[in-house]
Amino acid sequence: MQTPQLPLGEPAPQTRSTLGPDVLVQVRGLAVAAGNLVVQSGLEFDIRAGEVLAVMGPSGCGKSTLVRHLVGLERPVAGQVLYAGHDLHRGDAAELAALRRRFGVMFQAGALWSSMSLGENIMFPMRLFTRLGSAERRRRARFKLALVGLDGGFDLMPAQLSGGMRKRAALARALALDPELLYLDEPGSGLDPLNAARLDELVLNLRHHLGTAVVMVTHENASIMAVADRALYLDPLAHTMTALGPPRDLLSHGPAEVRAFLQRGVVA
Ligand SMILES: Nc1ncnc2c1ncn2[C@@H]1O[C@H](COP(=O)(O)OP(=O)(O)O)[C@@H](O)[C@H]1O
Ligand SMILES: [Mg+2]
Repeated sequence: MQTPQLPLGEPAPQTRSTLGPDVLVQVRGLAVAAGNLVVQSGLEFDIRAGEVLAVMGPSGCGKSTLVRHLVGLERPVAGQVLYAGHDLHRGDAAELAALRRRFGVMFQAGALWSSMSLGENIMFPMRLFTRLGSAERRRRARFKLALVGLDGGFDLMPAQLSGGMRKRAALARALALDPELLYLDEPGSGLDPLNAARLDELVLNLRHHLGTAVVMVTHENASIMAVADRALYLDPLAHTMTALGPPRDLLSHGPAEVRAFLQRGVVA
């Protein structure tokens, strides 16, 4: 086993090689590139069942790049992403597809399929990946819409929605297959502070009612403080993580650059 770095708040090395029941994902020695540029390396952390983990850092530090690797869309330059103990980038196609069905993703652009109604957007993954009948798909899609506060929106088209509603609908679609883990890349981007705060509240509700673990990429301090159990800082200069722990701990005694990041009054 390679020598792990020990960011703030991580367990001791001898406890990390075993996959406890509360660990969904193990990231080990991960290095990720965007194009030809290695933007982050030496990443070493777990994602725990039911937690809200914020991935934070200034614009361009590699947050979205990391998410693309965590969901298996891109191959790492080095290291591994282990999902329930299985390497997300190795194995046969059927095994990988089954693993990928266990988590939901909402990318930064958060686009819905514009030619489909909200209900159809949510039922589409069910049609692709499950054997549910159409009545059951409908029932579940309506339930997901109700969860995000869009009851009655089943037949609406994306173009009929405000930005905040579109984000919530995209979140409902990410929930289509009842994931145990949800990756959200900048869910509040493009929203006014009130709608961004509503989305944070929604994330906490999901965790509370469904027990869904959430990895939320954000550079917004308010969101980090409001929702994250732990936060991971990707440093743009060191090109690696320099902190991991409860945001309040990082704010009071994290590394200097992390404290500075969390104390910014104005968001980048
Ligand atoms: N496809 C690409 N080819 C080359 N460079 C890229 C590509 N995508 C992103 N980058 C660069 O990689 C860095 C990290 O980008 P990104 O992961 O989007 O950052 P963040 O999400 O933290 O804002 C940035 O400097 C960005 O300009
Ligand atoms: Mg990004």
